[in-house]
Amino acid sequence: MSDWKFPKDFMWGAATASYQIEGAAGEDGKGESIWDRFCHTPGMVMNNDTGDIACDHYHRYREDIALMEKIGLKGYRFSIAWPRIYPQGKGAVNQKGLDFYQRLVDELLEHRIEPIATLYHWDLPQVLQDTGGWANRDTIQYFTDYADAIFSALGDRVKSWITFNEPWVIAFLGYEQGKHAPGIHDMPTALQVSHHLNLSHAAAVNAYRAGTYNDGEIGITLNMSTVYPATESRDDIDAAKRHDGFMHRWFLEPALAGTYPEDMLALYLDQYGSRVIHTDDMKIISSAKPDFIGLNYYTRNVIRSNEYGTFNIGHVQPEGNPYTDMGWEICPDGLYDLLMRFKNDYNNPKIYITENGAAFKDKVESDGSVHDYDRIAYLKEHFKAAHRAIRDGCNLKGYFVWSLLDNFEWAFGYTKRFGLIHVDYNTLKRTPKKSAEWYGRVIAANSCEVE
Ligand code: FCB
Repeated sequence: MSDWKFPKDFMWGAATASYQIEGAAGEDGKGESIWDRFCHTPGMVMNNDTGDIACDHYHRYREDIALMEKIGLKGYRFSIAWPRIYPQGKGAVNQKGLDFYQRLVDELLEHRIEPIATLYHWDLPQVLQDTGGWANRDTIQYFTDYADAIFSALGDRVKSWITFNEPWVIAFLGYEQGKHAPGIHDMPTALQVSHHLNLSHAAAVNAYRAGTYNDGEIGITLNMSTVYPATESRDDIDAAKRHDGFMHRWFLEPALAGTYPEDMLALYLDQYGSRVIHTDDMKIISSAKPDFIGLNYYTRNVIRSNEYGTFNIGHVQPEGNPYTDMGWEICPDGLYDLLMRFKNDYNNPKIYITENGAAFKDKVESDGSVHDYDRIAYLKEHFKAAHRAIRDGCNLKGYFVWSLLDNFEWAFGYTKRFGLIHVDYNTLKRTPKKSAEWYGRVIAANSCEVE
């Protein structure tokens, strides 16, 4: 590995999620999801935007796959919308919904692009939310049944699976801070949800291994940043550790070691009581070691101790580095440190970066082109950080840029553009940006040192 070359079999891809791109909200028997409901509740999403149409990928997937092929993607990470498969969350399969993913997977394979499927990227069937959603233990079984149906239908062709995208976001943005669907503000509920997500992940991993097509790999994707204390003071160091426990170790350690971190258990039990962890739960959680960990890395976190907020954690916005349009500090060294943490502290598991990328205020030129050199610079520096980590022994096997297309950015609606490909939301016309062309050259050369 020299000259910024990556290992021969390195998986270069791009990622999306069902609700953010598909549109076709009520089509072919799809049920309502919690994001449909949330977007149609005035005031929850910027400009009251919805995913009703989004990028209309449901109808334009062939065109999108042709664009992927043009870039030269080796892999494509997408998610499956549970309410397309089970409009009522459970019961009878909606064949038309399943057929869409059959067509998508077949089309990808015909274009020699490997499908990597996420089972849950946040669009829970609304009917299940009506009975408590992820706070209801029954949802674990419904999720496992859904996962099983998908493994049986697609497992002959899909060989890489991700159970959950960012369980921290599901639990805490959805059920504690209420910024995401279902918009609940209740910490004990969020903690309960987080445990149910850890259990559901383990149950799905076990279902996969017990199923007919179990010759692929299955893992979980976590939102991970590297956490640095703002100063060397004891209080800041402790706050940084709490933040890391809250955001990362609470999900990472059950997945990798089958246990919850002691310090966080003590904190949660102390503050919120213990009613959710049943006797045999840890047996289930520890029985399902994933084949890989997916990391979504966008920025680092600099933390100081604070009088207010959850667990007295305060965020510092350091000066010096540039920021993206999300207000996220650009810090590629944080990615290197994160990857090395897995090597040094967690026995070097197989890793994919399942999301990394940046939103910028892209300018569309009069000929429709987008000269997004800031995005190219962002990606290049992060690819270099990944390269350094591989050179230093980290078991990193692939990299998925977020995102293939500009899309619906959750509570920010359509105001943030992350795509390699520009989408005009009036005409739905796709235009590959300069970053897409550049990424194509990276993949062709298998090196991040390209012009
Ligand atoms: C991640 C989400 C993804 C996208 C990016 C910007 O947290 O997984 O859907 O919104 O952030």
